[in-house]
Amino acid sequence: VSIVFRGDVERGRVWQQYFRTHAPDLPFVLWPHVGPPEEVTYLVTWQPPENIAALFPRLQVLFSSGAGVDQFDFACIPSDVQVVRMIEPGIINGMIEYATLAALMHHRNFIDYDVLRRRREWSPIRVVPAQERHIGVMGIGVLGRAVLERLHSFGFALRAWNRSSRQVDGVTCFAGNDELEPFLAGCDILICLLPLTEATRGILCRKTFFALKRGAALINVGRGGHLVEQDLLDALAEGQLSAAILDVTAVEPLPSDHPFWDHPRIVLTPHIASMTQPHTAAQAVLANVRRHQTGEQLLGAIDRERGY
Ligand SMILES: NC(=O)c1ccc[n+]([C@@H]2O[C@H](COP(=O)([O-])OP(=O)(O)OC[C@H]3O[C@@H](n4cnc5c(N)ncnc54)[C@H](OP(=O)(O)O)[C@@H]3O)[C@@H](O)[C@H]2O)c1
Repeated sequence: VSIVFRGDVERGRVWQQYFRTHAPDLPFVLWPHVGPPEEVTYLVTWQPPENIAALFPRLQVLFSSGAGVDQFDFACIPSDVQVVRMIEPGIINGMIEYATLAALMHHRNFIDYDVLRRRREWSPIRVVPAQERHIGVMGIGVLGRAVLERLHSFGFALRAWNRSSRQVDGVTCFAGNDELEPFLAGCDILICLLPLTEATRGILCRKTFFALKRGAALINVGRGGHLVEQDLLDALAEGQLSAAILDVTAVEPLPSDHPFWDHPRIVLTPHIASMTQPHTAAQAVLANVRRHQTGEQLLGAIDRERGY
């Protein structure tokens, strides 16, 4: 039994050190030095090699090194290989920080002030109390729930929307496609924390934007494929949306001639909302490997039919 890590070698060495200390029985090897292929039982990677079935005939679990699995081509992954996404405190804390920062930037009109600053205009905007600011989160998963909990501490009026019905303290929850519009109708700030699947691709579109309150603001920390980019530009031009903070785009890196770069009402970051932290991630994966070895259910196991 061995574990292969395929990714940044420097980060891989942190993982390797963790496994050496805490699981000396499990050889942890860094791609491309994989050792005997028939011993490879576990693979940790963001991007598996194309011929994964032939390369690792005894592979049992593929661990994504990130929170999503939408980057995988499931057709190339043998159906008996379990696919597991990354759930670890480093990702959760990073997302809490980013989503809170972005929500507060919208709440306290930072993008408006940036537009005013360029015009050298000193012009205060009325401060809206948090209780009167309605923030909606799409996706009440590991990250959506963590972000809601933190936003709750500021006293915001919170609502959230999810595929299956969920309950979160202090949050008005909506479920399923029938409740999407009533959910959107009450949002001043919309945060997308959905996984990218066939059901969610393009969900941040004109229809969604025009179902929000007029002048609402967007935060996309899901995936670039959630957003119909032209619809965002149109909604900003028409004043239906006031501003957007985007951590992800359809094409990454964003092409240099893309209109988002210069847009005064768009703040962009290069897909850094949260990052897997090697030390805590190694700990989480080792715990999952131990679960696998004792026949327990793995945390973060993917349902291939649903796509997340
Ligand atoms: N920008 C970044 O740096 C960054 C970092 C980490 C993650 N992310 C993104 O964040 C996403 C969420 O991560 P997570 O760990 O919170 O995932 P998760 O725990 O799997 O949560 C996903 C949530 O979305 C809901 N959902 C799925 N499909 C839906 C649909 N069609 N309609 C409504 N709700 C739907 C799920 O509902 P159920 O409860 O019914 O299953 C679940 O509650 C990731 O997939 C990734 O795309 C981005």
